[in-house]
Amino acid sequence: MSPLLWQKPGVKVDARIQAFLAGEDVVLDREFFLFDIQASRAHAEGLQRIGILGADELERLCAEMEELADDFRAGRFVLDDRHEDGHSAIEARLVERLGDTGKKIHTGRSRNDQVLVATRLWLKEKLSEVAALSRECAEVALARAEVEQGVPLPGYTHLQRAVVSSLGMWWSAWAEGFIDNAVRAAQTREWVDANPLGSAAGYGVNLPLDRDHTTAALGFGRLQVSATYAQLSRGKFEMAAIEALCSALLDVRRLAWDLSLFTSAEYGFVQLPSQYTTGSSIMPNKRNPDVIELMRASYAAAAAARTEIEQLLSLPSGYHRDLQFSKGAIFHAFGRGLGALALLPDLLRNLEWQPARMRDALEPSMYATDLAVSLARDGMPFREAYREAADPARWAEGDPERSLDDRVSPGAAGALRLDSLKQRLEALR
Ligand code: ARG
Repeated sequence: MSPLLWQKPGVKVDARIQAFLAGEDVVLDREFFLFDIQASRAHAEGLQRIGILGADELERLCAEMEELADDFRAGRFVLDDRHEDGHSAIEARLVERLGDTGKKIHTGRSRNDQVLVATRLWLKEKLSEVAALSRECAEVALARAEVEQGVPLPGYTHLQRAVVSSLGMWWSAWAEGFIDNAVRAAQTREWVDANPLGSAAGYGVNLPLDRDHTTAALGFGRLQVSATYAQLSRGKFEMAAIEALCSALLDVRRLAWDLSLFTSAEYGFVQLPSQYTTGSSIMPNKRNPDVIELMRASYAAAAAARTEIEQLLSLPSGYHRDLQFSKGAIFHAFGRGLGALALLPDLLRNLEWQPARMRDALEPSMYATDLAVSLARDGMPFREAYREAADPARWAEGDPERSLDDRVSPGAAGALRLDSLKQRLEALR
C-alpha cells in the first residue's frame, strides 16, 4: 500500500480496520480520479502563483499528472487498494516520480476540499447529461405529437375510461414534462457550479491561495466563499442533484407504466420493437417488456440514494467520515438513472401504435363530458346539462374526431399549442 498520508510513527495499522475505513472507497474514487487530477493541476497552478512552487516545479507536476491521467485512461494505472483512496494515489505517484516537488502538492489543501471539488465537477457533467437527454426526449415527443396529434386515444382517470383523448395530448404531455426536467437539471447544474477548492478542511488555510484562479481554471461559475459552508454543503448539493434526476425519472416511471399497460393484450395500443423485449425461460410464448420495467424501476435507486444522503446529513458542522458514503449513493443513482434516460429517446421514436385498437377502446360514454360542456356553451346551466348528458341515449351522437377537434382547437383549454412548447425547447439550446 502507498503510505497512509496521516500515519504516525510507531502506530500500527490494522488491516481489517483499515479495510472497514476505506472499504469500497478507493474503487469508488475511480469515478472521480480524472476530476481529482484536473483539480490538483489547478491547485498546483494556484500554488505557483503565490510562490509555493517554482515555474519548473509546476511544469513537472503538470506533466506527471497528465501522464497519470493517460495511464489511468489506458488502464496502465489501476486505482485499487494499494492506495487508501484516489487522493493518496495522486500524491503517492507525484512523490514517487518527483520527490520533494511531489511532496509540495498538498500544501494548503485537504482531502476534504479535494473530494468536494471532484464531486461538484462530476455532478456538473452528470446534470448536463440529464438535461441533454431530457431535451432529446422532449424533442422526440414533440415531433411525434405533431405527426400523430389527430389519432384518438382513450383518456383515463382512475384507470377507467373517461373522455376521448389523443396521441397529441399524450405525446405533448411528455414533451412539456421533459422540457421541465431539462430546465430543472440545467438550473441545478448552475446551483452546483461553485468552487469549494481552497476551503481545505473547512476552515481555510493561512496562505493567500488564489481561489479565483482555480475557479476560472476549473470552469466554475462562481466561488464558494465560505470555507466552512463549502464543507457544510456536502450532501446538500448531492441531494439537489439527485432531486433533479428524480424529476426526470418520475416521468420515466409514469411513462413506462403507461407503456406497460398499453403493450399488454388487454389494451393492445402499442407494440414494442422486438429488441425491447425479452423471452421467458419456461414459457415459449412470452415477449416481455423488461426494458420498460427496468426503466420504471430506476427511480427507486435515485430515491434510495437521496434518502441515504439525507440520513447521513444528521451531523454537527465540520467534516465527518460519514460523508464518504455520499459517493456510492450518487454513483448508484446516476448510474441507474442515466442508463434508463439514455435508452428512452430511441424507445420513444420506435413505439408502434395500433390505432384500430385505440379506436375500439372508445366507448359512447366517453362523449358525455363533451356533450355536457357543449350544452352549457349553448346556454344551459352546467348542472342541468350534466344531467341531460348523463342519459346514455344521447351518447350515440358522439364522434371521436369532432369531440377532439372541439377540445384541441385553438382557443380551447385543451389546445395542444405545440408551437409554444417548441419555443421553450428551442430556448434550451
Ligand atoms: N474518502 C473521503 C470522503 O469521501 C475523503 C476525505 C477524507 N478526509 C478525512 N478527513 N478523512 O469523505
